[in-house]
Order: sequence, then C-alpha cells, then structure tokens
Amino acid sequence: MERLTLPPGRIDVWLARPDDLDAAQERSCLALLSEEERGRCDRFVASGARLQYLAAHALLRLTLSRYADVLPEDWTFGANAFGRPHVETTAGLGLHFNLSHTDGLVAVAVAADPLIGVDVESMRRAKDLEGLARSVFSGHELAAFSAGPDEAERRDLFFALWTLKEAYIKARGLGFSLDLDSFAFEVSGPSPSIRFSERCPDDPARWRFWRFRPTPDHFLAIAGSVRSNAPNLIWLDKRILQIHTGS
Ligand SMILES: CC(C)(COP(=O)(O)OP(=O)(O)OC[C@H]1O[C@@H](n2cnc3c(N)ncnc32)[C@H](O)[C@@H]1OP(=O)(O)O)[C@@H](O)C(=O)NCCC(=O)NCCS
Repeated sequence: MERLTLPPGRIDVWLARPDDLDAAQERSCLALLSEEERGRCDRFVASGARLQYLAAHALLRLTLSRYADVLPEDWTFGANAFGRPHVETTAGLGLHFNLSHTDGLVAVAVAADPLIGVDVESMRRAKDLEGLARSVFSGHELAAFSAGPDEAERRDLFFALWTLKEAYIKARGLGFSLDLDSFAFEVSGPSPSIRFSERCPDDPARWRFWRFRPTPDHFLAIAGSVRSNAPNLIWLDKRILQIHTGS
C-alpha cells in the first residue's frame, strides 16, 4: 500500500459507513482494537452505537497506518485531561487526528497541524431543535436560527452551527470547559467565520472552518489552522479493510 504524506496545510478526512460492514469485516475490525477499546465495545448496550465505535476506531487505526510505517493494531494512544486522544506511537508522533461518529457515518480527520477538529451529525437525530438551539447557541446564532424562513432551512442552519461549534471545541481539545455560547459562528458568507466573547479568549485569525453534506442525511464540519487548505474528503465505503489486507 502506497504511503501517504501529510505536508503542512493538508487535511485528509476519511469517511466510512459502519452499516456497510458485514460480520466478517466486523470481526476483522475488532481484531485491530486494543484490549481497552474492545472492552468499551463490549459495554455498549445499543448495537448501533457499538458498531459506530468499532468502525470509527478501526478506521482511525487503518487511516493512521496509511501515513506511517506502523501496523493498524500497533497504534497506542494517550489523552489529555479533557479526554482528547492523541498518538503516542513514536513513529507517528507528527500525525494529529480527531474522530467523530454518528448514526450511519464515521469520520477521521488527519493533519500535520494539531489544530484539527471534526464533527459529523445525522439529521435523523433531530428532535426539539428549538429547545437545543436555546440551550447551546449564542444570542447571535439563536437569532439567525429563529429567522430561518422555513423548517428545512432552520434545520440546515441548526446542524451547520452545531457541527461547527463541536468541530471548534474538539480542535481546542478542552471539552465542556468551553461554554458553547461563549463563541459564535456566522455562516451566511462564503466560508464560516467565528467570533469570541471574553469567556472564550481566542483569535479568529488563527482558524479556518469548512462545512460539508457528505450524504443527504449527514452534516460535517472541520476546524483547522489558518495555514490549512480545503480538506480532502475520502470515502472508504466497503473497501474499509482493503487498507489492512491489501486484498
Ligand atoms: C466528547 C465531545 C468532545 C464530542 O462529543 P460528540 O460530538 O458527542 O461525539 P463525536 O463522535 O463527534 O466525538 C467523539 C470523539 O471525540 C474524541 N474526543 C473525546 N474527547 C475529546 C476532546 N476533549 N476534544 C476533542 N476530541 C475529543 C474521541 O475520539 C471521541 O471518540 P470516542 O469516544 O469513540 O473515543 C464533547 O464535545 C461532547 O460531548 N459534545 C456534545 C455536547 C453538546 O451538547 N453539543 C452541542 C453542540 S452545539
């Protein structure tokens, strides 16, 4: 398998559909995970959530192995105080990633720059968007959402803002120590822009954001450093295990 490179500015986003995995592929994915990851898999009660987790963590390992001379099963990970995982394997220390999973889709973003965050959401999860918007959006975002002319536009704006906010939070790696309403996105221009309140000291000039609709059901947002180029979206689909086996 050809080794891929990640020059500065490049962001690759690998996507897979967990529902594409057949029973044999599920077993192969499971064999790639660490004992701890397999333990987490076993603790999921809902089979859909288990499959998402399994596909996301197998995809992460397979993806990282495209960029470094490390077998998928050999990657080791650490996490910061807020749970953000990072590569610990020496041969892959320059690789930064973030992953996201939802109903029907998993995504792994990789870059040479540590400022990287990804979020995917399924609009099948959409329930009480007004209530959620009131609890997580800034005043500016809530006003834009409420001004949406019809339900479909409000839904699209909701998921655009939600995934962008999550991608930013995930890129910062600080989890819930950042208040969701302490920063605000503006999505009406050609590319999303961010503003910060004094409760979230940061500089908009160091960030770039992108949003995508990888499927009719899914919304995806990427946060990257200002040096980043537009992300490459790469589908794995049913070929997920070919990376590993070469078959
Ligand atoms: C954990 C969190 C970072 C992301 O959660 P999420 O959007 O539900 O889940 P995603 O699938 O997008 O991401 C989960 C992955 O992010 C990574 N992650 C965990 N903590 C992280 C952190 N502090 N920073 C960045 N990434 C983190 C992990 O790889 C995790 O996967 P795993 O649990 O399978 O190991 C956190 O922001 C969260 O729970 N957010 C949801 C809360 C909410 O109300 N959002 C509304 C936004 S408007």
